[in-house]
Amino acid sequence: MLKINNLHASVEGKSILKGINLEVKPGEVHAIMGPNGSGKSTLASVVAGREDYEVTEGNIIFEGEDIEELAAEERAHKGVFLSFQYPIEIPGVSVTNFMKTAINESRKARGLEEMPAKDMLKLIREKSELLEIDRKFLSRSINEGFSGGEKKRNEIFQMAMLEPKLAILDETDSGLDIDALRIVANGVNKLKSKDNAVVVITHYQRLLDYIVPDFVHVLHNGKIVKSGTKELAHELEAKGYDWIKEEVGA
Ligand SMILES: Nc1ncnc2c1ncn2[C@@H]1O[C@H](COP(=O)(O)OP(=O)(O)OP(=O)(O)O)[C@@H](O)[C@H]1O
Ligand SMILES: [Mg+2]
Repeated sequence: MLKINNLHASVEGKSILKGINLEVKPGEVHAIMGPNGSGKSTLASVVAGREDYEVTEGNIIFEGEDIEELAAEERAHKGVFLSFQYPIEIPGVSVTNFMKTAINESRKARGLEEMPAKDMLKLIREKSELLEIDRKFLSRSINEGFSGGEKKRNEIFQMAMLEPKLAILDETDSGLDIDALRIVANGVNKLKSKDNAVVVITHYQRLLDYIVPDFVHVLHNGKIVKSGTKELAHELEAKGYDWIKEEVGA
């Protein structure tokens, strides 16, 4: 589904990613961990196609297609979803209306008609129940005055509605209380299928107790310096990152 080959990327002339190789297959869950500033969010942004990031070497293949030249929107329409570490506020646009627009935009890009209002309502009801999101929340302006946990929940709701092939969740656990963490993680688990894949970026092993990854990768200084199974996350929690830095001689 996703194949990243020797990816180098820079921001404002500063080299950040220095040769990333990563393959994500359908049905898999990958976790990316690593110290602050190691390039995790940059990697997510580059895959999603955010502007400001320049790919200087290597490529990103999504479903057999090199997506480097595609705009973020086009990638989203192909099924790439990225949650935001720092979500934006849109005053006057409710959570529901934002979702309706997003879904219909995506359908339009794929040559489909707008979703009938009845179906849309049904979908919203279904997904908000799945994620235990209440009615009042759906009519609020998107991210305006949202608590950290509400923002995160909103992101997962967007993901649930859009049903992406590849979901990249950047620090979805930060700011979630224990109950919200469980709800969000359960939501992600329920949305998992053999056809889609999830990449979770997290600092804490705790999230991975709920969303169990098939693979864990450690990013350090723009490179994946170690990959393993979920045991690697436990090891990191116990030993910190210095151990890895020593091991790779960084
Ligand atoms: N738009 C930007 N302008 C300048 N520097 C940037 C920009 N985006 C990222 N960087 C730099 O790139 C490096 C990697 O940042 P990135 O956000 O990818 O790290 P991260 O691994 O996600 O860290 P954290 O765990 O703190 O979220 C940092 O040194 C950061 O300052
Ligand atoms: Mg980050």
